[in-house]
Amino acid sequence: MALDYLSELPLPRPHKHETRRFPEGFLWGAATSSYQVEGGNDNSDWHDWDRIEGHTTDGAAAGAACDQYRRYEEDFGLAASLGQNAHRLSVEWSRIEPREGEWDMDEVVHYRRVLESLRRRGMKTMLTVWHFTLPKWFAARGGWEARDAVRLFERYTAFLARELGDLVDFWITINEPMVYLVQSYGIGVWPPGRKGPWPVLRVFRRLVRAHRAAYRALHEALDRDGRRVQVGIAKNVITYVPYRRQSLVDSLFVRLLNRLFNHQFFRKTKHHHDFIGVNYYFHYRIRYLPTKISQFFYEVHTENREVSDLGWEINPRAIFNALMEMNRYGLPILITENGIANADDAKRPRMIVATIKEVYHAIRAGVDVRGYFHWSLIDNFEWEKGYTGRFGLVAVDFATQQRTPRRSAYVYQEICRENGLPHTLLKFIGHGIRW
Ligand code: FCB
Repeated sequence: MALDYLSELPLPRPHKHETRRFPEGFLWGAATSSYQVEGGNDNSDWHDWDRIEGHTTDGAAAGAACDQYRRYEEDFGLAASLGQNAHRLSVEWSRIEPREGEWDMDEVVHYRRVLESLRRRGMKTMLTVWHFTLPKWFAARGGWEARDAVRLFERYTAFLARELGDLVDFWITINEPMVYLVQSYGIGVWPPGRKGPWPVLRVFRRLVRAHRAAYRALHEALDRDGRRVQVGIAKNVITYVPYRRQSLVDSLFVRLLNRLFNHQFFRKTKHHHDFIGVNYYFHYRIRYLPTKISQFFYEVHTENREVSDLGWEINPRAIFNALMEMNRYGLPILITENGIANADDAKRPRMIVATIKEVYHAIRAGVDVRGYFHWSLIDNFEWEKGYTGRFGLVAVDFATQQRTPRRSAYVYQEICRENGLPHTLLKFIGHGIRW
């Protein structure tokens, strides 16, 4: 389906008391992934992994998560009432294909209802085919290291295209391939926890081929009458800067990391993206450390910086640089994730306003940004961090499953409803922004 994107770029300069208005048709949403919110995904590789002691910081397994498998109507109702006009979610492969080559049509019906529920509310849908979790059978036969992994992923994607294609506006084939590589095969804190340079290289090549195959499968199944389906990936983009400004090694290392982490996957999948999906969380001040092999030869410095509950530097301004960096591909950009862990919500409202302001400046500078999806709609299971990182616009009490919108949800609501940043928000919340 074509993007409805009618306005001219760059945007006109507003008067200082006017709302910073975004292009017409801009997507304002939030993002989640199946394993993190649904609950009951006991056929997934993570289900074996997160129950092992030491695999999550708080010792918690995902378990029932937010029970969104059953409460999606309530959650989407909330998202819509909070002014959001789009939503990003993923399907759980282990539900759709519980055993190799066997499709569970009841689960297809379930996901059709989920997507229809969004459509009924007038929301655009963005569907992730694979967001980190694998069916147990796929993991048992070697996961992405197995020779025919790409064929199996392609078959699964083609099945989704056939069964759900009419209800999806934007497809994400793979969420954060490089993060998956680092976590699962580099430092080994995610399944299968197989560290080593050879698995890293092998899986990198497989993921490249898997994306290309899925991209083609989706276009073959869904392009018709001159309309092209929109397919991309969600790429975690890190803005790197040298810690020691004068240091040549730090600077060279920053260039190397930028190339490897931010660009290598795109370089290998040229002509297989209709948009660039950007997940922005990290601004890394990098210090090169030749002896720290286990840390990939570097250290990230956060002293004198404001950080989130997980200790990640909060740096909304650098999203401007991230967008400029990804603009080199000459494609539309969708911000497919951005957010912070902040349980008491003291920092999130400012962070949202400051970030959206930078996105606005990037658009004015000529970057074709078409949507922003906040991570996340609700608090959820944060992988190896268990339930310690609270990323939701909406707080979840996991004992009762009660949802309570945080103040930031209403700040974001105002932005969504206005399709821009009212100067009152800039004045009151942005006032005192130090970033
Ligand atoms: C991203 C992941 C997402 C979530 C956020 C906080 O890297 O895509 O699942 O964990 O980080």
